[in-house]
Amino acid sequence: MKNTIETLSNEKRIISASDEFKANATHSDPEIYKLAAADRLGFWEAQASQLHWFSPWTSVLEWERPFAKWFVGGTINASYNCLDVHLDTDRRDKAAVVWEGELGDVRTFTYAELHHEVARFSTVLTTRYGIQKGDRVTIYMPLIPESVVAILACARIGAIHSVVFGGFSAQSLIDRIHDSGSRLVITADGGYRRGKVVPLKSIVDEAMEKCPAIEAVVVVRHVRNEIKMQPGRDDEYQSVMADTTDLQEAVPMDSEDPLFILYTSGTTGKPKGIVHTTGGYMAHAKYSAQLVFDLKPSDVYWCTADVGWITGHTYLVYGPLANGATVMMYEGSPDYPDKDRFWEVIERHKVTILYTAPTAIRAFMKWGNHLPEKHDLSSLRLLGSVGEPINPEAWMWYYTVIGKGRCPVVDTWWQTETGGIMISTLPALSPMRPGYTGLPLPGIDVQVLHESGKPVEIGGGLLSIMSPWPSMARGIWGDNDRFKSVYWDTFDTYFAGDGATVDDDGYIMVLGRVDDVLNVAGHRIGTMEVESALVEFDGVAEAAVVGIADELKGQAILAFVILKEGVTPSDEFERAAIDWVSKAIGAIAKPKRIIFTPDLPKTRSGKIMRRLLKSVANGQPLGDVTTLANPEVVGFLEQQLSIKVDLSYPPTN
Ligand code: PRX
Repeated sequence: MKNTIETLSNEKRIISASDEFKANATHSDPEIYKLAAADRLGFWEAQASQLHWFSPWTSVLEWERPFAKWFVGGTINASYNCLDVHLDTDRRDKAAVVWEGELGDVRTFTYAELHHEVARFSTVLTTRYGIQKGDRVTIYMPLIPESVVAILACARIGAIHSVVFGGFSAQSLIDRIHDSGSRLVITADGGYRRGKVVPLKSIVDEAMEKCPAIEAVVVVRHVRNEIKMQPGRDDEYQSVMADTTDLQEAVPMDSEDPLFILYTSGTTGKPKGIVHTTGGYMAHAKYSAQLVFDLKPSDVYWCTADVGWITGHTYLVYGPLANGATVMMYEGSPDYPDKDRFWEVIERHKVTILYTAPTAIRAFMKWGNHLPEKHDLSSLRLLGSVGEPINPEAWMWYYTVIGKGRCPVVDTWWQTETGGIMISTLPALSPMRPGYTGLPLPGIDVQVLHESGKPVEIGGGLLSIMSPWPSMARGIWGDNDRFKSVYWDTFDTYFAGDGATVDDDGYIMVLGRVDDVLNVAGHRIGTMEVESALVEFDGVAEAAVVGIADELKGQAILAFVILKEGVTPSDEFERAAIDWVSKAIGAIAKPKRIIFTPDLPKTRSGKIMRRLLKSVANGQPLGDVTTLANPEVVGFLEQQLSIKVDLSYPPTN
């Protein structure tokens, strides 16, 4: 049955899920919005009650702005809620994880098998390495089932996991290991990306030279490349597991015990370690996955994010497993060996829910309809989008070509700091509107604010979350002053860093970051991080980085660089500096182009006018330039930009 599309006179396109979808959805009673608004804390208690608790909480919320404690006094274990709760049910022997490698190999773990693997690995962590509750463990892995095992094994014993995306450089890994004070690293020999091996273990080896506090490195043998193993420090996962049969019980954690740290970029300094705790995070993860995706144990649910990002944490691991779904995992790239790999995976494994990013959707659109049309996608019943604004054209393509006008599309807005989805339409409850993320979830209190902090009734402003919510960040690891100043100094309430509009139905459209955080292909990158990397490159005197609109990636990085005296700008230099950034941070932070300039627009006090650079780079009106000390530089930059007009790489001019 098709969904209904209604185009109203004011050109709002409103799309509702089919009656059949609504009839089968777990949540289809609109009362849920009212219920949550009438008694927010009671509503959250009801959601938390869906989890298994070893002992109940004594108070729902203790709030000392900006620090929240939820379900205080309760004890719970996240790993238990993802695994053990299913063992005495008919989910025991159904697939928890179906994994497909880039080479086409498939591995399946039932809930019983995943539980067995995780419980054994927890035993290894405690007995062999002496890992205890509160110890930090860094996970630097490809997208293989063992990454889920490592995460849940840490959670099982209360070790705080810090997953570092496998695309980050040795230096990024070092920074995160130092900041978190990790004792142990779990990695793999390598992973596959577009048919090539990413040599993770040798990147770890490089990092270990600067990480003397790491006592042991556990290496999953995956690609079986040649690696160096340092005796006394490095162990093969397969061999330490072979020695272990004992199953570690899940240890009761305090609701507020940290579950994980996840590093994310901000406007200043090094990435910050966002801390999430156990009870509140799990309550929202389970609830939101069920509500937004209508997730059921019968679903084969595929979230294409890597475990190195928050989406991978909440909606690849904790949310879907807590709901007893089957999680699809695919290791590699969407265009390997061919550009229809995603559609092949969906057809082969009968995926029912697909959750991916607008960048991927725009790439699929560009590659052509014939690719998805070659495959039977009839198993799909719901589609999701996350990470960046999705333009209505891409939304409609996703809806019609992939969903065949049958599947609701949910555009979900949230952040590493929010822990879970904050704004989305709900498939059986609130109609979809291309370009709009929709309404705040029941229980979530979001508003668009004027700069003054007053709510905007209709129109544009800044997104803020007005009341504490269970999965909110509890702080920045080791730096709670920074937590206060970054998120809580703008308004009394949580400031998300995004601009948004709200319309007369309360529907929110998220416009993107209003700070110096870039969003490249759905990945958050701080301008400062890229600038710091550039000025460390030999010959660079000064650098300023801005985001430019990019058809595929949403944003791309453009760098303006002043060279040191006597250094000549050249294509070779540009290429080498770009490679340097990739080596320093990771390929995701690569500038698309570098514009060499003798000067940068500065105020009379010497501050770079980044706002102006952004306008110049994006061909937008320059606005107020009266404070500019060196106006002549603007013309020069405009001319340089027009030479490198297509901004493609490698340079074409
Ligand atoms: O700018 C918003 C954008 O991604 C930022 C959060 O990035 P990160 O913490 O890496 O988490 C990404 C995955 C949850 C936000 O501040 N963003 C995320 N989802 C959307 C979005 N922008 C528009 N629409 C979305 N659906």
